[in-house]
Amino acid sequence: MADVERASPSLASVFGCARVEVEHDASRSDRCVVVFHRLRLPAFAPFPVEALALDGLLPQSSTMPLPLGVDANGDAVALPLFTSVGGTTLLVGGIPGTGKTGAVRTLLCGLAPTTASVFVVDPTGGAEASRWSSRLSAVVADADPGRTCDLLGELLALVVRRGEVLGAGGVTTMFPPVVLVCDELAELAAAGTSKQQDDARSLLRRLVALGRKTNLSCILATQRTTSTSIDVTTRSLAGWRLALPHPDDASGSEALLGPGRRQAADLSRDDVGAGFLTNGGPPRLIRVFESTDQLVEALRTTGSGLGLCELMHLDSVALRELTS
Ligand SMILES: Nc1ncnc2c1ncn2[C@@H]1O[C@H](COP(=O)(O)OP(=O)(O)OP(=O)(O)O)[C@@H](O)[C@H]1O
Ligand SMILES: [Mg+2]
Repeated sequence: MADVERASPSLASVFGCARVEVEHDASRSDRCVVVFHRLRLPAFAPFPVEALALDGLLPQSSTMPLPLGVDANGDAVALPLFTSVGGTTLLVGGIPGTGKTGAVRTLLCGLAPTTASVFVVDPTGGAEASRWSSRLSAVVADADPGRTCDLLGELLALVVRRGEVLGAGGVTTMFPPVVLVCDELAELAAAGTSKQQDDARSLLRRLVALGRKTNLSCILATQRTTSTSIDVTTRSLAGWRLALPHPDDASGSEALLGPGRRQAADLSRDDVGAGFLTNGGPPRLIRVFESTDQLVEALRTTGSGLGLCELMHLDSVALRELTS
């Protein structure tokens, strides 16, 4: 029994559970009972409105980390979507009904009171996007390939212009923050031809690749992390990943968290909002804050972001000043 006890940390790690207990077997003295304790899941928690400090000093800074959830100790976990070095990309994966849209919504609650310009591509019908419509700078709330590629193309033009500003001596922090949200990557331009779908994927890949220095962040959600659902380069460029439940799908978990990281496969489909968060380091088990319809209603009028024309105009002015 002592040998088994000594091996219990290794057993816990191999079987991906919180801890392993070894007990005497009351009926057989030459045996012991090994008890595997499942992952200790963080409790459900409501969005902490107090973290937003809505005290009349709006708008809030977009470099303030966004409230995301709590860990198993109940400590708050925030996501630094924008930092002083620019934007980043969060990729959220999980099987249907495990809280991907919920995670997007929670991040939007944190973004709403800021000056970030938010653009949404919601190929699944836009129910979530329509709740936020008054706060969004532009939205495509269907799988229309033309409108999807137009919006992605316009954002890419902005990012390219910002690249010119940087080339002329500008700095990342001068660009107003821009966020692109896409709530189901596999459905991106899905109603279009395969060429249109490829175009949409390639535009998105370039946006993610060029986003950091140009102060553009992306929040991308997908049910599947296979290469048919998400471009592998886009996946690899995502600085942050959140793996919601992937029951018995070790490779799906590894695709998000990294090789050998199968933790999300141990979560069940009922563990809604629970997932592992990583930016390359050890994945941290969190529970995403729950954000109600009422909260969205209260927050969607708090901040405001510029539209594409205004953003383009600002960058053109900056470029003229830097090159004159
Ligand atoms: N963090 C959370 N805490 C509590 N409940 C949540 C949380 N996230 C989502 N839910 C609830 O779980 C249900 C499913 O969540 P959601 O729609 O976000 O899943 P999904 O992964 O986006 O599903 P789909 O793949 O079908 O789009 C919703 O009723 C939602 O209210
Ligand atoms: Mg969803």
